[in-house]
Amino acid sequence: MRLLVTGGAGFIGANFVHQTVTRRPGVQVTVLDKLTYAGNRASLASIADRIEFVHGDIADTALVDRLVGGVDAVVHFAAESHNDNSLADPWPFIQTNIVGTYSLLQAVRRHQVRYHHISTDEVYGDLALDDPTAFSEVTPYNPSSPYSASKASSDMLVRSWVRSFGVRATLSNCSNNYGPFQHVEKFIPRQITNLIDDVRPRLYGAGHQVRDWIHVDDHNSAVWEILDRGRIGQTYLIGADGERDNKSVVQFILEAFGRDRDDFDHVTDRPGHDLRYAIDSTLLRTELGWEPEYRDFRKGLDATIEWYRDNESWWRPQKDATERAYVSAGEKVL
Ligand SMILES: NC(=O)c1ccc[n+]([C@@H]2O[C@H](COP(=O)([O-])OP(=O)(O)OC[C@H]3O[C@@H](n4cnc5c(N)ncnc54)[C@H](O)[C@@H]3O)[C@@H](O)[C@H]2O)c1
Repeated sequence: MRLLVTGGAGFIGANFVHQTVTRRPGVQVTVLDKLTYAGNRASLASIADRIEFVHGDIADTALVDRLVGGVDAVVHFAAESHNDNSLADPWPFIQTNIVGTYSLLQAVRRHQVRYHHISTDEVYGDLALDDPTAFSEVTPYNPSSPYSASKASSDMLVRSWVRSFGVRATLSNCSNNYGPFQHVEKFIPRQITNLIDDVRPRLYGAGHQVRDWIHVDDHNSAVWEILDRGRIGQTYLIGADGERDNKSVVQFILEAFGRDRDDFDHVTDRPGHDLRYAIDSTLLRTELGWEPEYRDFRKGLDATIEWYRDNESWWRPQKDATERAYVSAGEKVL
């Protein structure tokens, strides 16, 4: 099988490529990645001789057409992915997440290539903290930020290309991922690397927001199940029953560093910050038999902390610029 992986130098895409090379050595992987600030060739360095890497933009229709014409399937991870950046400047989100997805859809349509679309649970908006329900495949879309709105738009394009043009596509909407190779701008790596630098962790507002955490390897094993046996046109929600509020996550990390549980700062909250995400992954589990391997969040978190301790050379070059960006975006200790 020849597989094109877009965004394979980013967090989830790089982990997907590692998992694929390890568990499915017969698959020939080509990565297409623009190497934005979020892409990092170093994430693929240890397997560089086992994959093909193409530096380019998913919105480059001629390049995408040529690459898609040479593969059996496409898994589309490439995106602008950081909510805070989408509030500061939505344009790259429109361009990459919507126009870029359009470019891929036209190519898979032309070459009749199987396509899997990676998306987020953020397209569903948020739930009240005391709401007993969770998102499912039939929850109406209600995105809150330019990021989630651009992802919602891309999902709608995929659904319509299935219905109108017979494209063989599946979709998955996953909850918040954690694990190795995640950019230090994101919540968990930011707290871990702050503590490595002996800086107090920073919590948005009171920290009551709830996220449904899943280890990135579990997300990617679900993607493979869907690629193998998913129904064309179907959306699958991926989640591992990992609901935790942000304050507890910071406190888990502090404990793992042997620090006092309350040794953190509150900082200005994100405007429009979603309250709670929760995923009902019954369809994926019953129809495709998928189960997560990481059921103990603390264990997964400990392994992630160890990875950031052992791989300082990977994250160190981005750390100062990332913290400066938070300050210039107006982050203030409360
Ligand atoms: N991180 C999460 O918790 C999470 C949860 C659910 C879904 N998702 C989705 O998973 C996908 C991957 O997320 P991530 O966290 O790995 O993101 P990331 O920001 O770490 O990586 C994105 C990658 O895409 C590349 N890229 C960006 N624009 C491009 C373009 N125009 N052409 C080619 N490559 C481009 C970047 O260089 C980078 O390597 C996204 O679609 C995101 O919406 C993420």
